[in-house]
Amino acid sequence: MTTMDAIPAVPDTIYPVVNWTEADASRSARWRSESGAPPPKRVTVADDRITADAAYRLASEGSALLWRGDFQNARQLLQAMARRIDRKPRKAASSPTEAFNFHRQYQSQRARTLGMVLLPLEADYSIPLRRAVDVRQACTEAYGPGDEPSLVSLREILGLIGAHEWRKTGVDIPALGERIHPHYGVFSPVRGEYVGLVAEAPLPSLKLAFDIGTGTGVLAALLAKRGVKHVIATDQDPRALACARQNIARLGLAGRVDVVETDLFPPGRAPLIVCNPPWLPARANSPIEHAIYDPESRMLRGFLNGLAAHLEPGGEGWLILSDLAEHLGLRLRETLLAAFDEAGLNVVARMDTKPTHPRATDDADPLHAARAAEVTSLWRLAAR
Ligand SMILES: C[S@@+](CC[C@H](N)C(=O)[O-])C[C@H]1O[C@@H](n2cnc3c(N)ncnc32)[C@H](O)[C@@H]1O
Repeated sequence: MTTMDAIPAVPDTIYPVVNWTEADASRSARWRSESGAPPPKRVTVADDRITADAAYRLASEGSALLWRGDFQNARQLLQAMARRIDRKPRKAASSPTEAFNFHRQYQSQRARTLGMVLLPLEADYSIPLRRAVDVRQACTEAYGPGDEPSLVSLREILGLIGAHEWRKTGVDIPALGERIHPHYGVFSPVRGEYVGLVAEAPLPSLKLAFDIGTGTGVLAALLAKRGVKHVIATDQDPRALACARQNIARLGLAGRVDVVETDLFPPGRAPLIVCNPPWLPARANSPIEHAIYDPESRMLRGFLNGLAAHLEPGGEGWLILSDLAEHLGLRLRETLLAAFDEAGLNVVARMDTKPTHPRATDDADPLHAARAAEVTSLWRLAAR
């Protein structure tokens, strides 16, 4: 069994710390959790001898397992634990909204249980375990430069590895004729039907456009590629800003697209303002869900209410929005139309597309009925 050198206790005012006892000694280390999970209160040291049933039971009871065995075995253990969770019967729902709420409860419970298998990370993000993969680059991309040893869930590390691969390989965007490279925690245009809508909608002007909440920069890049001379792309998330700047530079568009940190709109007016806000009005379970969940429709309403004041006369605002929330009973179509009206906006036209991602046709998915009916629209809005 590998052991880690004793780490001096650190005040938890700087960052969260996890404490445990190992070989009769008190230990502590920095706790990392991108999902904002608190440090586990109980930690058991475990290795290859533990059975999946025992690991599952401990994790379900809230005990974290600090892994000291073989890295690949930990991966298999996690899969075996996931199978135990997935074969449990799901609660039957009496409405789409209830199905959505049950599904989210189930997902967060599943994440909590599977997040209980912990790995040690050295200060340089190497994993001091047998057959460990090299995650130094993936961790540096997500966390920034390493400084001291820490504990992190294996589940998070697997997510970081996946994100690193996406960032390296990029996502093909047919409408752009290029690849976009998403960063960890930044909304990825992997289900890119909406990009096709922005590629096809008639441009009201080639002079200037704002892209509100640019994420990877994909829509700003597309608008520039379509001939818009100057695009101002905004976001508030530092990872999105860095990601968008990198994609824009890679595509040779840095002279035409400015990526700026701001809440919604940059100063001034533009003849075209595009926004693809998070589409579900619900609380995010973790910070990395902010691109999907928009509590109380804050971004959607902020965009609509600020649009008229930022459009040039004759200009258009393009709102990209999935109607999944309507199929889940989380928003009414009338409420959306009333929000347009209250913001002094008229609908010029609407263009629709059906998502083609595999979950739209997976009838084992508890949200299947809503997903199968989902339509993503580009609403062309004009100020009255
Ligand atoms: C659904 S993602 C869309 C990203 C990108 N436009 C696309 O279409 O792939 C929404 C983006 O809006 C950003 N965002 C959320 N609230 C914002 C705000 N108040 N101001 C600017 N950007 C915001 C998020 O950080 C995220 O990158």
